[in-house]
Amino acid sequence: MEFRTRAIHVGQEPDPQTGAVVPPVYLASTFVQPAAGASTAYDYSRSGNPTRHAFETTLAALESGCGALAFATGMAATHCATMLLESGDHVVAGADVYGGTFRLLKKIVNRAGIETTLVPTNDLERVAAAFTPRTKLLWIESPGNPLLSITDIAACAELAHRYGALLAVDNTFATPALTRPLELGADIVMHSATKYIGGHSDLLGGALVLKDAELRERLYFIQNATGAVMGPLEAFLCSRGLKTLELRVREQSRSAAAIAAHLAAHPRVRRVWYPGLAQHPGHEIAGRQMQGGFGAIVSVELDADLAATRRFVAATKLFKLAVSLGSVESLIEQPASMSHASYDPPERRAQGIADGLVRLSVGLEDPGDLVTDLEQAFRQVF
Ligand SMILES: Cc1ncc(COP(=O)(O)O)c(C=O)c1O
Repeated sequence: MEFRTRAIHVGQEPDPQTGAVVPPVYLASTFVQPAAGASTAYDYSRSGNPTRHAFETTLAALESGCGALAFATGMAATHCATMLLESGDHVVAGADVYGGTFRLLKKIVNRAGIETTLVPTNDLERVAAAFTPRTKLLWIESPGNPLLSITDIAACAELAHRYGALLAVDNTFATPALTRPLELGADIVMHSATKYIGGHSDLLGGALVLKDAELRERLYFIQNATGAVMGPLEAFLCSRGLKTLELRVREQSRSAAAIAAHLAAHPRVRRVWYPGLAQHPGHEIAGRQMQGGFGAIVSVELDADLAATRRFVAATKLFKLAVSLGSVESLIEQPASMSHASYDPPERRAQGIADGLVRLSVGLEDPGDLVTDLEQAFRQVF
């Protein structure tokens, strides 16, 4: 079965009792057992819930995994993966991973005696140089945030395995509609389901998808022991989101490519960061590991200072001024004052995050309307 067919049918079989074509939402926290100590498939919803299980089954089928686990948020999913580690272990992570991942690794996970080294993972030599005999996990994101850096997933898998470490890929930006890291050798795929999987800015969720059953069992044990599971309503919404994921992501990517091309030729724009543009440093690798589009996030450096850029992001009407991404409505943000404001300015600039940088999450509106909206904002500010 092809991707779109799996998205609609795997794990989403009609309810055998009523014939309802949409599986019901099981809100029950507990399940009657046939006898003391004799459990059926479900006994308590933290340990397993049919609605959550349906979403996990569909997602695993889309990511080519042997199983998935759904969490309350993306950060809960990431945290669960880090709990595979023990005191004395070492993590190598991308320098441009999501800020919350950076905070978790450097300010929470470090308390357990686990050290993290950050490197630009689009430079394989630097990744290799960061490995030590204690390295147990390589954590990457591709495309990265907010400069859409591209990391070679297959090469990272080979490197991690050479050192006996696991490769985990935050696949939130690409989604399985464009990139399937497990097929490229990764061991763990992580998602903020809050973004494209949900797709409508109306839920928080996270997921891990695993290459092998033994790893799934270890992570299931941690998830059940620590408890940050996805609720049934969110699982239902995520299952619904998956059914249109490919259509949304491909169409949003097409619009993003058109907007990136328009902005690349704009007199008020210094630089556009979009992996679909030939001048993007990761274009060739992205072409290999992303199929059907280059994603729907575009970052643009305006020819403007912090204040003028702040006015610009407030001047768009269709692009709503908000963090987050991946939804049907387009969003705009200024990393220097919003998503990356916690970095001090010199550190931020050293990361390549200029004051004039703007990040666009391109939604499902008509791309012509989106360009018109950006143009009216340019006219208002410049
Ligand atoms: C790439 C990426 N990973 C992880 C997360 C964290 O997910 P959540 O906000 O669902 O906890 C985010 C949230 O913005 C993200 O963009």
